[in-house]
Amino acid sequence: MKLPISKRLLCCAAQVPRGARIADIGCDHGYLSIHLLRTGQIAFAHACDLREKPLQRAMENAQRFGVAEKMRFSCADGLQAVDPEQIDTVACAGMGGDLIAQILRDAPWLKDGRFRLILQPQSSGQDLRRALSEEGFGIEKEALVEDGGFLYYIITARFGGSQPLTPGQQYCSPALLHSGDSLLPRYLARIEQALALTLEGIGRASDPAAREKLPYYRTALDEVREMQRQLPR
Ligand SMILES: C[S@@+](CC[C@H](N)C(=O)[O-])C[C@H]1O[C@@H](n2cnc3c(N)ncnc32)[C@H](O)[C@@H]1O
Repeated sequence: MKLPISKRLLCCAAQVPRGARIADIGCDHGYLSIHLLRTGQIAFAHACDLREKPLQRAMENAQRFGVAEKMRFSCADGLQAVDPEQIDTVACAGMGGDLIAQILRDAPWLKDGRFRLILQPQSSGQDLRRALSEEGFGIEKEALVEDGGFLYYIITARFGGSQPLTPGQQYCSPALLHSGDSLLPRYLARIEQALALTLEGIGRASDPAAREKLPYYRTALDEVREMQRQLPR
């Protein structure tokens, strides 16, 4: 039986080290944990979801694919039900960057270099990178993947070694810029286009609160354009 796992989640799985014990937060169908267990890449997964229905689905899928005995399931907000002694890796995929940042803030025990975070925000990546840096987490690696016409980025972070990020680096971290990823030129082009549109919109706005953000976006756009110029051709 084939697990209908997406290319995006397979790329998240590729960031998980062999032998890891993971907390899969916002597990939904449970495919990430099930894939990792089924392939023998990991030995334990704690699947958590805020809602009963997705969690039920994850439990049924885990039974169907024969890995339920290697899993724990909790209907819980973020990491609230996770025992830090049971895991060493946290995966948070398919949620907004702001929500992921909040989930991490609500679990201060993650501020320990032994935990690896594998984060795949659907949106607001710049807010998540900024929050990681402010909370003391260093971004070790970023990977890009194209799936269904969308470009996704997967951030691997760990407590310690954080650096303040400039506006441009909040959109493209040094780890991503130096990743050599073949999708990087397309990612930067997409960011450049989005920032240019945002600036155009703010330029037309009369709302002073919106206009206050102008210098931030202008700096971000200038930096992203500089990154594009420095890409190897
Ligand atoms: C779009 S799905 C992503 C599922 C899967 N991780 C993936 O990437 O394909 C987001 C899941 O996160 C769950 N969720 C939302 N907020 C949550 C929270 N605060 N704590 C745990 N799960 C949450 C939702 O119920 C939903 O099942």
